[in-house]
Amino acid sequence: MTMQTLTTKALREKYLEFFKSKGHTIIASASLIPDNDPTVLFTTAGMHPLVPYLLGAKHPGGNRLTDVQKCVRTGDIDEVGDATHCTFFEMLGNWSLGDYFKRESIGYSFEFLTKVLGIPTDRLAVSVFAGDDDCARDEVSAKRWEELGIKKENIFFLPKKNNWWGPAGVTGPCGPDTEIFFITDKEKCSDDCSPACDCGRYVEIWNNVFMEFFKNADGTFSPLQQKNVDTGMGLERTVAMLNGYSSVYDIDVFKPVIDLLKEKSGKGEEKIRDMRIIADHIRTATFMLGDENGITPSNVDQGYILRRLIRRAVRFVRSLGLDYSILEEISALYIDEYAPYYPEIKGNEEKVLSELRLEIERFDKTVAQGIKEFEKLRGYIQNNRLSGKAAFRLYDTFGFPIEMTVEMANEYGIIVDTEGFEKAFKEHQEKSHAGAEQKFKGGLADHSEATSKLHTATHLLNACLKYVLNDNNIQQKGSNITAERLRFDFNFPRPLTQEELKAVEERVNMIIEKKIPVVCREMPIEEARELGAVGIFNDKYSDVVKTYTIGEYSMEMCGGPHATNTGDLGHFSIVKEQSSSAGIRRIKAILN
Ligand code: SER
Repeated sequence: MTMQTLTTKALREKYLEFFKSKGHTIIASASLIPDNDPTVLFTTAGMHPLVPYLLGAKHPGGNRLTDVQKCVRTGDIDEVGDATHCTFFEMLGNWSLGDYFKRESIGYSFEFLTKVLGIPTDRLAVSVFAGDDDCARDEVSAKRWEELGIKKENIFFLPKKNNWWGPAGVTGPCGPDTEIFFITDKEKCSDDCSPACDCGRYVEIWNNVFMEFFKNADGTFSPLQQKNVDTGMGLERTVAMLNGYSSVYDIDVFKPVIDLLKEKSGKGEEKIRDMRIIADHIRTATFMLGDENGITPSNVDQGYILRRLIRRAVRFVRSLGLDYSILEEISALYIDEYAPYYPEIKGNEEKVLSELRLEIERFDKTVAQGIKEFEKLRGYIQNNRLSGKAAFRLYDTFGFPIEMTVEMANEYGIIVDTEGFEKAFKEHQEKSHAGAEQKFKGGLADHSEATSKLHTATHLLNACLKYVLNDNNIQQKGSNITAERLRFDFNFPRPLTQEELKAVEERVNMIIEKKIPVVCREMPIEEARELGAVGIFNDKYSDVVKTYTIGEYSMEMCGGPHATNTGDLGHFSIVKEQSSSAGIRRIKAILN
């Protein structure tokens, strides 16, 4: 069999089909914006939404799952434009929740790569965990690979730094992994060239994590209740590899976009980096805006990242000399491309395109203002040098990107102290965005007692808002829970009055005082729908869903975890009600 040159569509299908044939339930991609997880801004891996199940909760789909998950990782945003980095990607994954372990997992991966994708065995290299004080050397995996025909010289034992995955935050499930690499035609860069080296000889295609530990806050590891397998394969990268492309931006989903940019700008490879940045950022922005928990540009958290992506794309469109409207055209291309797999972005098409346009307009105004400021500054410039501080002020106060300051300054023969700018920028960043940046690094949902109670209070709030405001169209538009408070976004056209807020509080507290058990049940999605459960009914979702019922007051589809009785919640108070974005209100509340 020869190596398959597959499209993204074909690889998605083949992957899911293969794992289905091995007894896995296909589940839908979760939202890009995690519910109830204060530690991350975006879903960064297929395992994120599955954390409760890795920790032992029963998944309605059983103990073998597979999916294609929308993921965003913005830690490497500055590298986008090279051949491999993307801020959005799709992760193919399969999970064993306390079912099979190392031998079967490796067997499945090997069979898929060699029999379905037709990769010759001698083009595969693997790494396994070398062992340390926390966990033994992984001889089981190494032996299994050898048994399947991987040559000893292509099996590498590597330390924790390379062969250990997670936890995504400070605490959470984690374990040793075995990573699978495609061996390219590049020669070894040295005698000890290995997959740990980034010379390009080894391209990582799959990561099988054997999650058997929980990392505690004190840095120690405890064995998990059950031994899990969590695997992840990057869709874009694997398709590029199978087709022999040297860049992910050559694959089918990007091609029409890059071609359009080339055609409209009349530019070619000399501007390929700019084109890739536009292609990447607009794809990510489209998915963020069109998500089932969609967000809009703002100055904090997720909205801030979205704003940064759109504005960066605008800048590169300027540098290509194109009209901004091309960004909407590109977004529309993506919406059609991905609609069959992520219908939510098609459903939100209007919102995606109009928000994109709005943000571009806002940025355009900013730029116009920045130009005015720059003209003013020019009057004071000495020795044809613009200080880093002044450039930073243009950026900080007017949102004027440094690249544009440099561009404009150059036209007048003025040199910008970019080092000074970087310095001012770093100082500022450390101060103000420390929180947001920290959250990109990943982290896992906090499943403590405090968050479980707040989660139950969120369901009550949702139900009581509908009741008090007498509006059944009210829907959850976002939720975020920390150990201290809940935050709940919902659609409503105006601020709530003091009386209304008080009535909502009173009703929530009335239900708390009734000490009602919170009942968790699994049922077919149809039944949940008929019973009037609240939640996002998604046709592509697995057949069986988990629901939480609180007496006659609330029934929601939800992954949990929750308090077991409303009586445990304490006293509920709303601390703030404000606007979140157009037509969306935000309530913050606490329990004490
Ligand atoms: N969680 C692992 C990863 O992100 C495997 O899915 O690579």
